[in-house]
Amino acid sequence: MAATNIAAAHAGHLAKVFAQYPVEVVQGEGVWLHARDGRKILDFYGGHAVAGLGYGHPRWLAALEHQARQMAFQTNALPMLIRERAAARLSQFAALGLDTVFWLNSGAEANENALKLAFKLTGRSKAVALEQGWHGRTAAAGAVTWGAQQKWYGFPRTPFDVAFTPRDDAEALARSIDGDTAAVIVEPVQGVGGAYPVGRAMLQALRQRCDEVGALLIFDEVQCGVGRCGTPFAANFYGVTPDLLTAAKALGNGFPVSALLLSNRIAGQLKYDDMGTTFGGGPMACAIAEAVIDTIESEALLENVRQMSNAIRSSCIVGPITGAQGVGLLLGLKTSRPAKEVQAALLDKNILAGTSADPNILRLLPAYILNEGHVAQLRDALAQIPA
Ligand SMILES: Cc1ncc(COP(=O)(O)O)c(C=O)c1O
Repeated sequence: MAATNIAAAHAGHLAKVFAQYPVEVVQGEGVWLHARDGRKILDFYGGHAVAGLGYGHPRWLAALEHQARQMAFQTNALPMLIRERAAARLSQFAALGLDTVFWLNSGAEANENALKLAFKLTGRSKAVALEQGWHGRTAAAGAVTWGAQQKWYGFPRTPFDVAFTPRDDAEALARSIDGDTAAVIVEPVQGVGGAYPVGRAMLQALRQRCDEVGALLIFDEVQCGVGRCGTPFAANFYGVTPDLLTAAKALGNGFPVSALLLSNRIAGQLKYDDMGTTFGGGPMACAIAEAVIDTIESEALLENVRQMSNAIRSSCIVGPITGAQGVGLLLGLKTSRPAKEVQAALLDKNILAGTSADPNILRLLPAYILNEGHVAQLRDALAQIPA
């Protein structure tokens, strides 16, 4: 897509590594984006699944301001109530028996630490990951990301062996997990892979096989977690509990924060210096994660996610849309023509949607505060686009 017309005086200093949408945004308000050219755009992309509460939520702003005045930063070497309280809040929200939290800053960093722990604790040499899975751009997270080595990985070699296995073949998956396997990493609902639900049967088979061979199961819920599936995590939706779970994106609603949740068995084996971070667990990040979870619960947003998901599925199979996949508000609308064309046509009608690695999937990642009127607007816009 064409670049925006940012004033020439400032242009040209950013690393040119991102393809950019042809609209410059200046302000966000709820589910709306205001563009420099005066357009008001309905956001079904949510800053790539980050803006779960939407833009400028008053409780998020209040937590930000309160904690900034109280203390914006403090090292993990000094105990702080807000850090403990947010960890308790997150593990209680998850209700998965993953009762220990390690705070970090990004999705990739959380996955990097999850993988490192699995190798360290099992003493094994191999990871298993799913085809079409996406886990981040750092050395370990990139190593388990499907297609990264062919496209952008960059490091001369991966830090460990990785076996990729088809996302819909439980038998192949079981065969690839053996006594050398330290960890299996999976997005229960793949994001970049096209809002593709891996499904209960596959996840149960994974859990069982990991238990048989003593491998650790990691759920990467960076994109599908923190309420996006209409449950606290996709693990709750599927009724399958991993040993390690990573969360980010919607956890901070725009403030950088990620978390690694650990089973009690794993947490019990941790020693000082097994993991570390400067900014992870900063009081701002913790206060905001706590406020995000409080808001999801007190505003009954999980229920709203489920309702809006049903509304989209039942009303938006129109125009170029032939079906839907995904869970909650991580939805993939199947397109009869290239999804990029549908995305561009929607943007012409002031609606922002995403695409994915699947060329015929339009990916929707809207805020949890979406309402019926917004869904109707999407339906009407899609209905006007030729199939
Ligand atoms: C499932 C998943 N895991 C990990 C990541 C990496 O997160 P980050 O960009 O915060 O490092 C992403 C980012 O899109 C993601 O979707």
